[in-house]
Amino acid sequence: MTTIQIIDGRTESDRGRDFLPGMGRTWLLPLYDLFTRFARVGALHERTVELAGIESGETVLDVGCGTANLSFAVLRAVPGAVVTGHDPDAGALRIAARKAGRRGVRLSLVRGYADRLLPEDGSVDHVVSSLALHHVDDAGREGFGREAHRILRPGGRVTIVDFGAPDHGPGHDHGHRHGGSRQARPPVAGIVGLLTTAGFTDAREIDHIEHRFGPITIVQATR
Ligand SMILES: C[S@@+](CC[C@H](N)C(=O)[O-])C[C@H]1O[C@@H](n2cnc3c(N)ncnc32)[C@H](O)[C@@H]1O
Repeated sequence: MTTIQIIDGRTESDRGRDFLPGMGRTWLLPLYDLFTRFARVGALHERTVELAGIESGETVLDVGCGTANLSFAVLRAVPGAVVTGHDPDAGALRIAARKAGRRGVRLSLVRGYADRLLPEDGSVDHVVSSLALHHVDDAGREGFGREAHRILRPGGRVTIVDFGAPDHGPGHDHGHRHGGSRQARPPVAGIVGLLTTAGFTDAREIDHIEHRFGPITIVQATR
């Protein structure tokens, strides 16, 4: 079994910063993979990877990777991809590291927030993200857009899958909520807008999926 290191990409000011974990509460994390298998989230990951159009040798950053199931879907479809998972949740990253070690796949893992990504300017081929941005507040989402635009090479793509029906414009709230005091953000509505504001000129919804937990939308933009 290979040991996978987790790089701490947080700045001093990021330490102690709050985040909404995968299942809404930290103690539910051990159930996350079981729950998502039951919820057939794997099919969403496979569709996202298909639409991302990743090629062997390309670099992929999975933002809000959690236990890295989207990263593993990338590696299954494109074993030659160079994949990094990025998430603030140390517990989720430890699970991801154990799974990668057991599977003997090459996966890098970074602890950090969506609005501060480690790669250098123009150095990444793909940014992908699954069911994560609705966990991030407005400032964090705007920061994510800016960072995705900064790190992607010209022609690189960002592909995001999250809760949300087709976006019919401002104020369209799709009502997906986690329990607990820290509430999830309104989902995919607004992601096209925030990517456009960040400088992507062709941000658009490219697929809609009726999932058992509600409508899902995939958004894509090219740097
Ligand atoms: C529902 S899980 C999705 C995990 C994984 N992408 C998947 O598809 O199974 C949401 C993830 O967003 C992460 N998250 C929460 N706040 C974040 C932030 N500010 N920046 C990046 N990720 C964040 C959580 O730690 C969690 O792992």
